This record gives sequence, structure tokens and C-alpha cells, in this order.
Amino acid sequence: MRIMGLETSCDETSVSIVDNGKTILSNVISSQIALHALTGGVVPEVASREHVEQVNAVIQESLVQAHTSFSEIDAIAVANRPGLMGALMVGVSAAKALSYALDIPLIGVHHIEAHIYANFLTDPNIQFPLVCLVASGGHTQIFLMRSHGDYQLLGKTLDDAAGEAFDKSARLLKLGYPGGIMIDRLAKEGNPSAIKLPRARLGAGSLDFSFSGLKTAVLNATAVSFDDHPIEDWCASIQEAIVEVLVEKTLRAAINNNVKTVLAAGGVAANSHLQSELRKASASKGFRFAIPEKVLCTDNAAMIACAGYYHITAGHKDALDLDVIATEALAK
Ligand code: KG4
Ligand code: ZN
Repeated sequence: MRIMGLETSCDETSVSIVDNGKTILSNVISSQIALHALTGGVVPEVASREHVEQVNAVIQESLVQAHTSFSEIDAIAVANRPGLMGALMVGVSAAKALSYALDIPLIGVHHIEAHIYANFLTDPNIQFPLVCLVASGGHTQIFLMRSHGDYQLLGKTLDDAAGEAFDKSARLLKLGYPGGIMIDRLAKEGNPSAIKLPRARLGAGSLDFSFSGLKTAVLNATAVSFDDHPIEDWCASIQEAIVEVLVEKTLRAAINNNVKTVLAAGGVAANSHLQSELRKASASKGFRFAIPEKVLCTDNAAMIACAGYYHITAGHKDALDLDVIATEALAK
């Protein structure tokens, strides 16, 4: 089954063509990062207009790169929730038009579910039960999955997402937007214990997160001692404070639920330190560990096509009145 996936929930216009939920024929990503760097963050109306400008060209390019034509596409999958309303509407409108014109099924996909499914692109034989840490610019959650499509929320952030903690700290370090990847790069040369920063553990056994205290601590510390430490030490110390808590709680969730596999997903899962620490911690406790390749951690449409494949093969499909939804939890 050849699925075209569309992703326009935030600041990437992406279209991908994936065979049988695993073979990526194309995964075209048009990033708006340069545009949003001008304002230091995503302005929703600017994002929507840019998606309108880009979407047709990105669809065409995805067909060209996949050496395929519309007539060979079997279904359309589109991120329809959660996300920026205007941005989502661009992808969903294009997806409906394609589904109607080509007379093929349409499936709306939850963006967070798709982040998790990026792992199944890398390895379709991942073993259940599993826990997956989803850490992105807008979300930080730990899910338990016992089978495909079955999610139990084990922990979530009570305030900022991990990606926000990276991006807001990077802004305080004057590293520009989005800063997660800059912190990752510079931290490699830094000392992670150079600057003392808080870890919010929220009580023994809690699987929830809180990153707003870290943000305030970085604000206060940079205000008084920014010049006392090299930028690399700031980056390594901030990264360590975020990664330590993410790894600790993900592993606790895995142990508590006696799972076979530990997964990570979302933009922050592209962080090299998080990847190596999670890999090490999982191996030490005997869990299998998987993580999508970096380009599949951040927003992309291959993950949408992959999640769409599992829905369509389970018999799900949407009608042409498919809605966009700004906020919807994947699981309670
Ligand atoms: O999943 P994503 O592309 O978009 C959302 O759905 O939010 O995640 C974007 C987030 C941003 O906060 C970005 O700074 C962070 O992921 N990010 C990273 C890295 N690459 C992207 N954070 C830390 N290290 C990275 N290498
Ligand atoms: Zn995302």
C-alpha cells in the first residue's frame, strides 16, 4: 500500500510517500525556520501563509523524488490534530482535495501518534509492551503501548515542554532560534557540571515533568554570571539538567511496567546526549531500545504516512468533513 502523508501542523511543510508503512520513497521537508528566526519563534499566521505558498510544490517534489505518479497512490494520510489551526487547515484541505480527486481513502492522523510511529519506520518489528518518551517543542509525555493504537499516558509536563526548555535557554544564551540543536552541538565541548541547575523530580515515583524552574534558574544565572563560563559549559549544563530527568523518568516508567522496549520520539529525541544516555540506561536494565533517525525525530510527513498505514490497515478511514483540532490529548 502506497500512502502519501502530509504534515503542516507547525513550521514544516512536508509531504512523503511511504510503501507499506516502512519503505520511504520520498520525504520532502520545506522548513520555515529561517522565516521564524526573524521573530524568534513561530507566528501562526505567517506559518499558515507559508504553508499555502509551499504545499503544492512540496507535493509535486514528493512525487518526483519517489518516481511515482498520483495514479499509484493508494491513500492519503494527513496530520489533522493537534497543532496550529490555520497551519493544519492547509494540509487537511490539500489532503481532502487529493482524496476526492483521486477517489482514494483519507485518514486524519494525530501528530504525537505519528512521532511515536517514526520508530516503526526504522524498525517495523518493535516489540510490545513498550514505553515511549515523546519530547518536542510543544509536548513532553511518556506513553505505555501494549499494542498498535493503544496508549496509556504515564507522565506529562506540568508546564514547559523539554523542547521549550532547550529553545528558551538557547535564547537566554543568545544562540538564536530554534536553539535545541545549537545547544546539542556546543554541549559536546562543555562541562556538564560547570553550572549548578535544578532538576524538578516532583516527588518520589512521579513520572511528570516540570521545566519552568530550570528556565527561571537559567534566566537568573545568566543575568549574574554569563561571562564567567564558556558558552559550551552553559550548553552542557543545561542539556544535562534536561536529559537527566527525561532519562530517569523514562527508565522508571519502563521498569514499573515491565516492558520489552524503550522508545523515544519528537524533536528533542534528536539530541545526541539524550540518545546516548537513553541507550546506555536501557541496555543496563535489559530493555531493547530504538530511536528514529534524526530527520524522522523532528516534524516530517513520513511519520504521518506510517501512522496512517497502521490506521488504514486496521480499517479506519475519515470522510471529507474531517476537522482540524488545535488541542487533543493522545491518551488520558
Ligand atoms: O517535533 P518537533 O520538530 O516539533 C514539534 O512538534 O514541536 O520538535 C521541535 C523541538 C524544538 O524545541 C527543537 O529545539 C528541538 O525539538 N530539537 C532539539 C534538537 N533538535 C530539535 N533539542 C535538542 N537537541 C536537538 N538536537
Ligand atoms: Zn512535532
